[in-house]
Amino acid sequence: MPLANDTLLRALRREPTPWVPVWLMRQAGRYLPEYVALRARAGSFMALATTPSLAAEVTLQPLARFPLDAAILFSDILTVPDAMGLGLSFAEGEGPRFQRKAADERAIGALSVPDPAKLRYVFDAVREIKRALRGSVPLIGFAGSPFTLACYMIEGGGSADFANVRKMVFARPDLLDRLVAINAGAVTAYLREQAAAGADVLMLFDTWGGLLSPSAYRRFSLDPMRAVLAALPPDVPTIVFTKGATASLPALVDSGASCVGLDWTADLAEARRSYGARIAFQGNLDPLALLTDPASVERATRAVVEAAGTRPGYVFNVGHGLVPATPPQNVAALVTAVHDATRVSP
Ligand code: CP3
Repeated sequence: MPLANDTLLRALRREPTPWVPVWLMRQAGRYLPEYVALRARAGSFMALATTPSLAAEVTLQPLARFPLDAAILFSDILTVPDAMGLGLSFAEGEGPRFQRKAADERAIGALSVPDPAKLRYVFDAVREIKRALRGSVPLIGFAGSPFTLACYMIEGGGSADFANVRKMVFARPDLLDRLVAINAGAVTAYLREQAAAGADVLMLFDTWGGLLSPSAYRRFSLDPMRAVLAALPPDVPTIVFTKGATASLPALVDSGASCVGLDWTADLAEARRSYGARIAFQGNLDPLALLTDPASVERATRAVVEAAGTRPGYVFNVGHGLVPATPPQNVAALVTAVHDATRVSP
């Protein structure tokens, strides 16, 4: 079915659009009171994520409030290691936790690409969301990068410094290679299945690639992402986001993705000048700019739009996920400002 609003797809192909498309990382989540209420009724984050009708309802919540140009599947990157048998849970007020780590030879040797049936709830959610969207805007599917998944698998959850991962880079690079290779296979199968279920765009979230030195980044994060991207259907546009990878931007623009997401420390104008003829960019407003007031949000948004310039191939977004304290009216101000500042008069 053709989409009523395909501005995101066009921008990712670097075609002209009647306005700059905007969507926001974590656009569904705890800053929305209707999300908090639905999660309370469902009992947990995992109950929301594993029940396709609830995942669909959460996905659509921000679109009911704001004229966003895309929906993003409501799920989490850690569903993949969960399906590998690590046992994921999200304790209230804490980050993610795995029952079992994959930090040594034995545990890593026992891992394999999970049976797709274990992630069927995700593909069912994609189909349900596509039905509910009724051709209005594209649906973004996603996965964690092989390296970012490895970070959580090695530590057994989040970490202040991912010290065990960074030690493995030096002590057991062979083991880390094996872990990211298994993850790359798992992520490839997972994303291909999301596309088959109807996802219009596929995104890789590499939240922790910026922890690595440039050479380690290439080996353990970028090369595995390149392998994933090369094995995805060529007609589905892709976005790759490594937080904190400004130093590796020249390598990242050659990952094979249609678009690179930038965090707020990157120079968007410079990135567009240097690489805008070859690849689309997404970003890069500091999400904490939304903890101010609508007038400040509008100013900050317009500054990012200005930095992006008018060349096709740009998608507005924040430089990392929205935080729970974000006032919804500031999100409204942001979306209006992007559209007003960029709408091409007919
Ligand atoms: O962007 C979206 O709206 C789509 C949904 C989405 C979630 N997680 C929902 C979620 C996406 C794309 C993710 C990706 C994700 N998950 C990443 C990569 C992007 C990033 O933020 O860096 C990472 C590192 C995770 C792992 C994860 N999931 C953490 C560290 C946490 C806890 C801390 C936090 O930020 O909330 C989660 C839980 C999570 N994933 C929530 C949501 C809405 C909050 C759960 C709750 O309701 O309590």
